[in-house]
Order: sequence, then structure tokens, then C-alpha cells
Amino acid sequence: MGQIISGKELSKTIREEVKEQVIKLTDQYHRAPHLAVVLVGEDPASRSYVKAKERACKKAMMESTVIIKEEETSEEELLSIINDLNNDQTVDGILVQLPLPKHIDEDKVIDAIKLEKDVDGFHPLNLAYMHLGRQAIYPATPKGIMTMIERSNISLKGKKALVIGRSNIVGKPVAMMLLKEHATVTIAHSRTENLKAECLASDIIVAAVGRAKMITEDMVKEGTVIIDVGVNRVEGKLVGDVDFDAVKDKASYITPVPGGVGPMTITSLLQNTLECYERRVKQ
Ligand code: GUN
Repeated sequence: MGQIISGKELSKTIREEVKEQVIKLTDQYHRAPHLAVVLVGEDPASRSYVKAKERACKKAMMESTVIIKEEETSEEELLSIINDLNNDQTVDGILVQLPLPKHIDEDKVIDAIKLEKDVDGFHPLNLAYMHLGRQAIYPATPKGIMTMIERSNISLKGKKALVIGRSNIVGKPVAMMLLKEHATVTIAHSRTENLKAECLASDIIVAAVGRAKMITEDMVKEGTVIIDVGVNRVEGKLVGDVDFDAVKDKASYITPVPGGVGPMTITSLLQNTLECYERRVKQ
């Protein structure tokens, strides 16, 4: 059986490391890193994500402010809140929980976040810097995936990596990060012909599609590294994009769902907040 990469365990370790660093720097610079989270609307999943982020900040000894606005909030008002947070010297990181209500232009909102406070790494300039290999804040989920690979001492150099899914939040950025680590990267998506052949030719598969158990045992060669980004609810249970039970014996490494990539996203957010804070207090 392949080695299971526990995002839950790795998150514990890294969050402890972040906390130690936060304590040290808070003592040195006389204030803690401060994350501001803005949530618009009632979406229950978003509410629970925001709660989890707030809790994680607290445990890491960071300060957090959560601003919750009603569904009907105008784009203008949201932009004004962001402007205030941009100018607030005590705020190091700004995160606007997505998705936003339909009447608000998400791109406009992301563009309005000050680059130095963009802890989500969604600002177009941050993404451009990442693509250029320049210093940048990396989006949380792909960063978490790369941390799992790195901390498991998995070598990417010259390996064939397949990313399934081309979202702006996961697929596209993780492909770029894998490329930066010298993998030979293919991006597959809903229009890809013969996905099975692509999977069988790959040493590493990152599945970020959102379709329960779509990667089956017959699609995976012996020794493949499997990273499952899928979060699908099936009959009240969380399942990934990979048929874990069937694939785990063939994989050399595999991430479970839940307890895999999921917890790493907030861990990366804490790391990004710490990074933005450090850059601000040290300048
Ligand atoms: N909604 C789902 N994932 C994310 C994320 O990583 N950041 C934000 N801001 N919203 C999300």
C-alpha cells in the first residue's frame, strides 16, 4: 500500500511552526500578524470556512477580524470596506471569501485588494509574478499541495505530472508550481481526449475536478503519486475525485479525503499571512 500523506498531521506540525514564529515576532515587533476576512452573504459552506480560518488564526496566536455583510451589500460598499482595510496599518492580510453574490463583480473586488495584503494570492499581479517565477504570494490550495509533496521528499525533477482541472484557484497555479520544480506538466480538463491514457503515462496526478471517485484503479500505473483535491459530498459523506480504496495499493503516495489537501489550505493561508506581516514589519 502507498504511503498516505496526512494533511491533517502535516498541518498540525506546520501550524505549530507558524505559531512559534508568530510568538517570536510579536515579541520583537510589538504586534501580532493580523488577518481580515470579509464574508458577504449567507452561504453555509462559506460561513463554516470563515469560522475555520478565524479559529486557526486564534490558535496560531494571530489576530483576526471577520467582517460579515448581508447578501444585498452593494459592490460599492464592499470596495469601500476593502479600501479601508488596505489603508489600515494594523491589517497585514485581506481575504474576501468567494464566491460573492451574483451582483458583485468578483474580478473588480480581487483587483482592489492591495498586492502586499493579498494573502489569497488571487490578485492578477501576484499570479503574474508567480508565473514569472518572481517573489509572490502563492494561492493557498496549490501552495498546500506543493508543501505536501516537498515535506514527503517526493522528487519532481523530470517527472511527468498530470493536473486534471484548469481552475484559476487550483489547476492553473499548481501546474505552474510543478513546472517551477522541473516536472513535465500536462493539464487535462473536461474536453481532454483519453484521460485514462494521460493518467497511465503520469508519475504524479493532481486531481482537481470535483467529480466523486472519477480516478479509478485501472487509470493509475504502479507507483504513481496521487494528490486528491476533490471535495464531493456523496450521501452525506466527503469523498475525493479519486477512488481512494481502489487506488491506494497502486500509489506510492496518496492523499486522503478528508484529512488530505483540505487542512493544508488554511495552513498555507496562515503561512501567507505571516509572510505578508513579516514583509510589512521588516520594511
Ligand atoms: N472559496 C473557496 N476557496 C477559497 C479560497 O481559497 N479563498 C477564498 N477567498 N475564497 C474561497
